[in-house]
Amino acid sequence: MNKPKVDFDQYTQNYNELLREGTGFFSKNEAYFAEYKVKIARREFSSEPKNVLEYGCGIGRNIPYLRAAFPGATISGSDISVASLEIARQENPGVEFFMENSDISGSTLYDMIFVAGVFHHIPVEQRLPAMMSLHKRLAPGGAVIVFEHNPFNPVTRRIVNDCPFDLDAVLLRPSELKKLYTAAGFHVEGHAYCLFVPPSLPFLLPLEERLGKLPLGGQYWVKAVRAL
Ligand SMILES: C[S@@+](CC[C@H](N)C(=O)[O-])C[C@H]1O[C@@H](n2cnc3c(N)ncnc32)[C@H](O)[C@@H]1O
Repeated sequence: MNKPKVDFDQYTQNYNELLREGTGFFSKNEAYFAEYKVKIARREFSSEPKNVLEYGCGIGRNIPYLRAAFPGATISGSDISVASLEIARQENPGVEFFMENSDISGSTLYDMIFVAGVFHHIPVEQRLPAMMSLHKRLAPGGAVIVFEHNPFNPVTRRIVNDCPFDLDAVLLRPSELKKLYTAAGFHVEGHAYCLFVPPSLPFLLPLEERLGKLPLGGQYWVKAVRAL
């Protein structure tokens, strides 16, 4: 049975604070997670995308890092939370933000779509249509990278259980995400677990890439491409 959908309009004012409460033991600065994921996206995209979308951008925390990592690209953000998009606009002048399912949501073809922490909020039966809509909006040869909480990590599960805006969360295993990609017509290109080492232990950070196959990271990512 589906859990009642969380309305992110209710969490715009304390989103960062709640995030800090849950993840402060790992990094005191919640912006670390945004920068970290964008760094992985940058590393995984060898070409220079012209149009980048962050699907489910929330209050726009990842946008400044996407702008810095892809300076030649036009960056856009979308969400289903009006209040989150308002904050994202205020914080990121010059970036186009739009509501999912509005007229504008199908009008551009993107070379890259970045998705962080969104799919576990999408009701299970709506995930494939959501993935298919990403496929449709991607230019041939373009790619999507999705970051998700790692359901195999007990600490991650506890953080999700304790977080008020995760009340509707149904975590997905990497294999489920890959199945969604394949069913939507994508070719899966890469996958790794991540967020093993806190930034307070910088000398261990180079280990992160080597640990990617261990299902113990706080999160994981899967990248897939739309065939040419
Ligand atoms: C945990 S927040 C993550 C926000 C942002 N990606 C980040 O990393 O800070 C999840 C976001 O997904 C959005 N969301 C949920 N279902 C969605 C859907 N079907 N389409 C687009 N966004 C959705 C929510 O409104 C919320 O802003």
